[in-house]
Amino acid sequence: QQQERSELLKAYELSARVYRSILMNTVQGRDALAYLRSRGMSDELIETFQLGYAPNMWDALAKQLEKSGFLLPSMERGGLLSAKADGQGFVDKFRDRVMIPIHDPKGRVIAFGGRAMGDVQPKYLNSPETALFHKSHSLFNLHRARTDIRKREQIVLFEGYFDVIRAWDAGVHHGVATMGTALTAEHAEAIKRLTGEAVICYDGDSAGQAAAFKSIPLLEQAGLIVKVAMLPDGKDPDEYIAAFGPERFVREVIEGAVTSTKFRLLYARRNFRLQEEADRLRYLSGAVKLIAGLPSPLEREHYLRELASEFDVSLDALKADVAELLLRRE
Ligand code: UTP
Ligand code: MN
Ligand code: MN
Ligand code: MN
Ligand code: MN
Repeated sequence: QQQERSELLKAYELSARVYRSILMNTVQGRDALAYLRSRGMSDELIETFQLGYAPNMWDALAKQLEKSGFLLPSMERGGLLSAKADGQGFVDKFRDRVMIPIHDPKGRVIAFGGRAMGDVQPKYLNSPETALFHKSHSLFNLHRARTDIRKREQIVLFEGYFDVIRAWDAGVHHGVATMGTALTAEHAEAIKRLTGEAVICYDGDSAGQAAAFKSIPLLEQAGLIVKVAMLPDGKDPDEYIAAFGPERFVREVIEGAVTSTKFRLLYARRNFRLQEEADRLRYLSGAVKLIAGLPSPLEREHYLRELASEFDVSLDALKADVAELLLRRE
């Protein structure tokens, strides 16, 4: 087992080098390089993130692995190759995809995310669970971000690989991403060991906002202070930076992140037409309930004041509602 793990680590390191060299030094890699450039990836970024390309061939990697003496069946268990349908031998698992290496906290390659360049499904093919790679507690970019997470006493959570990479280019060096899975309690525990504050910066579409809403309690239960960065028009961080530039991203999105309570209050609005009186009242009553659940009187007062001024109702009335709710709860 230990033997297989250490073989697999070597195989992943070799694979990353092979993919990288195909991207940078061969004709086969030309379209992939153009694709990355069109997505704003400089040579420096490609180098930092060790991006590569798996060519449109059946055995480009298999041949290299075999030549280096790796046992192909264990490479299949390790997620680099697939068994042929007829059971006769192995083929490359990743073909015609931009390859994004995923590292463990020590900086060793343990998996890949592979981005298709056309409309091929799935858009991303990720390495399966292996002896090295466990999605429920791996975070993309953690080994690079660790120093800055400590320094800034904060972590930024993204949905996607390219969000992390673009944000890095914008100077946000404390960003990580889960990989095609939702944030888990294990992720939250691992984050809490590094820092006290998490900024959720998921996509601005409804899926991203729903994922943010679900992640908040997980992070808070681990003892983290949670903020949420909001992106306009359904954009994701990568798209936002492409449209509005890195400075505005840092200033307005990251530094403008709101408290988890503020986010919950905003998120609850999606179900209401606030220009209508009945909906406005229903929203207010839900908001008051949410605020009544906050442990700190100071915070309750703060959000009640905001509600009072925005909806032009008296603070006293809102406070009376909260008091009543709290009484009933005892
Ligand atoms: P998104 O659908 O938001 O993709 O999924 P994206 O990151 O914006 O992709 P680009 O910008 O079009 O390249 C967010 C993340 O979910 C995982 C990937 O990690 C992706 O970055 N995912 C998504 C998968 O693992 N598989 C998929 O098919 C799609
Ligand atoms: Mn840095
Ligand atoms: Mn998304
Ligand atoms: Mn996205
Ligand atoms: Mn994107």
